[in-house]
Amino acid sequence: MNVLSAMAGINDGEFCKKFTKQNVDIITLGGYNIDLETFKAGLENSVKYRQEFITCPHHLSEDINEQIDIIKEYNPKWKGKIAANMRAVSADSFKAIYKNTQLDIVEINAHCRQEATQDAGAGQALLKNEKLLLEMIDALCENTTFDISVKIRANVEDVDTLKIVESIQSYPVKYLHVDAFNPGIDEADYEIINRIASITDMHIIANNSVTSHERYQKMLDAGASSVSVARAALDGDITHIFQ
Ligand SMILES: Cc1cc2nc3c(=O)[nH]c(=O)nc-3n(C[C@H](O)[C@H](O)[C@H](O)COP(=O)(O)O)c2cc1C
Repeated sequence: MNVLSAMAGINDGEFCKKFTKQNVDIITLGGYNIDLETFKAGLENSVKYRQEFITCPHHLSEDINEQIDIIKEYNPKWKGKIAANMRAVSADSFKAIYKNTQLDIVEINAHCRQEATQDAGAGQALLKNEKLLLEMIDALCENTTFDISVKIRANVEDVDTLKIVESIQSYPVKYLHVDAFNPGIDEADYEIINRIASITDMHIIANNSVTSHERYQKMLDAGASSVSVARAALDGDITHIFQ
């Protein structure tokens, strides 16, 4: 499958809808800050770093539904799935979307590395707080019927990526979304995808610097089940990648 990966401040319905005509099977909305702590961090990120969605956590579900409507009204024939990427500091925070009936996939963000987000205990900080990450997964399993995706960044200092993957796969998590981040190098770490694929049956969505069909194929050859792109989508045309 072909996936549009989250881009905070960018991936709303208006931006995403065109990719329903570009061979994309999963569109990821957000990331969204779904509780007070991540909301505050999002404000700080917006000032210091880059624009984010400033959606009040109380209206999150309605706002997501509005974005989904924009996509589906633009292309009613599209049969793909909609995911929403979410940053949170507690398992309880996910209550904000328990009653949502339009989302297909909830993606737990254990990936974003902006200082304010990590200081709040969300995003990439969850890779160093496995207990909390697993509580979030557990809460979604217990209280919702969404497919669950967990987005992780590979090659984070002092994090054993393979150990985290082993813990995650003890839950019914459908998608493991891996940013095959390769510190200092402008191409994915295909080897880490290969190593993850050798220890898990979860559906691996892999990304990082996939800008051509050749790199897309390399990711699949490394063992990814699907490939996602983010930055390459900024110019609005990814048909050359997802041919
Ligand atoms: C502007 C921007 C915002 C992003 N926001 C998020 C986010 O909110 N949540 C997330 O999991 N990843 C986020 N990402 C990371 C991307 O989803 C992707 O994992 C990363 O950019 C590597 O893929 P790429 O090389 O295809 O861009 C963002 C990336 C960009 C460029």
